[in-house]
Amino acid sequence: MPDKRLIFATQAVSFMNDKSINGFSKRSKAEKINWLTETFLNGDQESANLLRVYWHEDEQRQKRHDEFIENALTNFFLPFAVAPNFKINGEFHAIPLVIEESSVVAAASNAAKFWAAHGGFQTRIISRTKSGQIHLNYSGESAVLNDFFEQHKQQLKQSIGTLSKGMEARGGGLVSLELVDQTAQLDDYYYIDAKFETADAMGANYINSCLETMAATLKSLASNFSGFVPETATPEVVMSILSNYVPECLVEVKVTCPVSELAQEGLSGSEFANKFVRAVEIAHANPLRGVTHNKGIMNGVDAVVLATGNDFRAIEAGIHAFASRSGQYCSLSTAKITQDEFEFSMQLPLALGTVGGLTKLHPMAGVSLSILQNPSAEQLMMIVACAGLAQNFAAVRSLITTGIQKGHMKMHLLNLLSQYGATESTKSLAIEHFKTQPISARNVAEYVVKHQQDA
Ligand code: MEV
Repeated sequence: MPDKRLIFATQAVSFMNDKSINGFSKRSKAEKINWLTETFLNGDQESANLLRVYWHEDEQRQKRHDEFIENALTNFFLPFAVAPNFKINGEFHAIPLVIEESSVVAAASNAAKFWAAHGGFQTRIISRTKSGQIHLNYSGESAVLNDFFEQHKQQLKQSIGTLSKGMEARGGGLVSLELVDQTAQLDDYYYIDAKFETADAMGANYINSCLETMAATLKSLASNFSGFVPETATPEVVMSILSNYVPECLVEVKVTCPVSELAQEGLSGSEFANKFVRAVEIAHANPLRGVTHNKGIMNGVDAVVLATGNDFRAIEAGIHAFASRSGQYCSLSTAKITQDEFEFSMQLPLALGTVGGLTKLHPMAGVSLSILQNPSAEQLMMIVACAGLAQNFAAVRSLITTGIQKGHMKMHLLNLLSQYGATESTKSLAIEHFKTQPISARNVAEYVVKHQQDA
C-alpha cells in the first residue's frame, strides 16, 4: 500500500514545478505574457492579445505606468468622468471621478445640482495632524524607560533634522513625541507616538523615514544608557510605521435648507426630511445598514481619491476605523431637523496629498488636479468630503422615495445591452422602450434577442 502522505507530497511538488517560476520579474513583458498564457490561460491567445491591446501606443507613456509596480503586463481601464455643479463654500467645481459603477456619477451630479440651488456645501478643516508609531518591547521598570525617553527626547527629534528641513520650510514637520505605556493591553508593549503636519503632501514617505531614523537613534542611545540592564531590559524596536488611522486629520461638510424645499416624489418637505433623518438614524443604530450607508459615501470618496492619484486603501482603512470609534460601527453622516431647517453633515478623516507620490507621476491625476484648479491638500479634503456627502444624499434620497433600482437599472441598461450583444440600433430602440418598461437582466436579454431576430 503506497504511503498516502508520500503521494500527496509528490503531487504538491509536481504542481509547484508546473506552475511556479523563478526570476519572473526579470523577464521581458512579452516573456511574462507568454509564460502566463501557457501556464494559466491554457494557451488562450485571445486573452494574451487583450493584454497587449490595452498597452498605450506611446511607448514612453506606457513605460511610466509599467514603472509604478513590478510585473506590470498591461493597463486596466476604469472610466474617468466629471460631476459638475458642485458649489463648495460658494465656488463651483467640476469633480473628477474614477469609478465603474453605473449610477454613481449621475447620482453625484444630481445631488450637486440640487444643493447648488439650496446654498451649496459648507465645509471646513478641523485639523490636519497625522501620526506614526515606533512600537517597542520592554520588560524593565517603566519609570526607567520613561527617564530614558525624557532625557533623550530632544536627541530623537534632532535626529530627523535633515529629513525635516524641506517639510518645515513648507510649514510641516514633527509636532510632538510621546511615550505611551500599553502594558495593560499587551505585556511589555510601549510605543512612541509621533505626530506630524505634512503640508500639501500625504506624507507617508516622510513620516516613515522620520520614524525609522528616530528608531535607529533610539537603539543606539539605548545601548549606551546605563539605566537599562543589558540584554534583559533594553527597549527593542519591533517596528516603525505611520498610522492610517487619522482621526485628527479631519474635515467637516454640511448642507442645510428649509424643510419645505425638500418636497419631492410625492412627499411633502416635512415627510421627506423626517424619513431622511430616520434613515440616517437607522444607519447609526444598526451596523447592517451603517456599512451599506457608508459604502454609498465611499462611492464618492474613493472615486475622487483615485482620480487624484491618492491612496484609496489608506483612506478606506482610516474611514472605517473612524466609523467604529464609539465601539460600534455606525453611519459617518448625521441628519437633523431644527426649527424647520434640515441639516445633513459629516466629519471625515482624510489624509490626502496634492504633491508627491502618484499625484505627480500619473498624468491623469495631474489632469484631475488641474480640473480642480490645483487645490491644496486641505482644499482637496473638502472637495472629497463633498463628493461623499453628495453621494450619500443621492443614495438615501432614492432609498426613501423611488427605491434604488430605478435609477441604478436605468444607468445599468447600457451595460446589459452590451453584455447581450445589442447592436447600436438595438441599443437606441431599447433605450426608448425601457423608458416605460421595467428593466431587468431577463427583460433586456429577451428584448435584444427578439429585436435582433426581427431585424
Ligand atoms: C450602492 O453602490 C450604494 C448604496 O447601496 C448606498 C446606500 O445603500 O446608501 C445605494
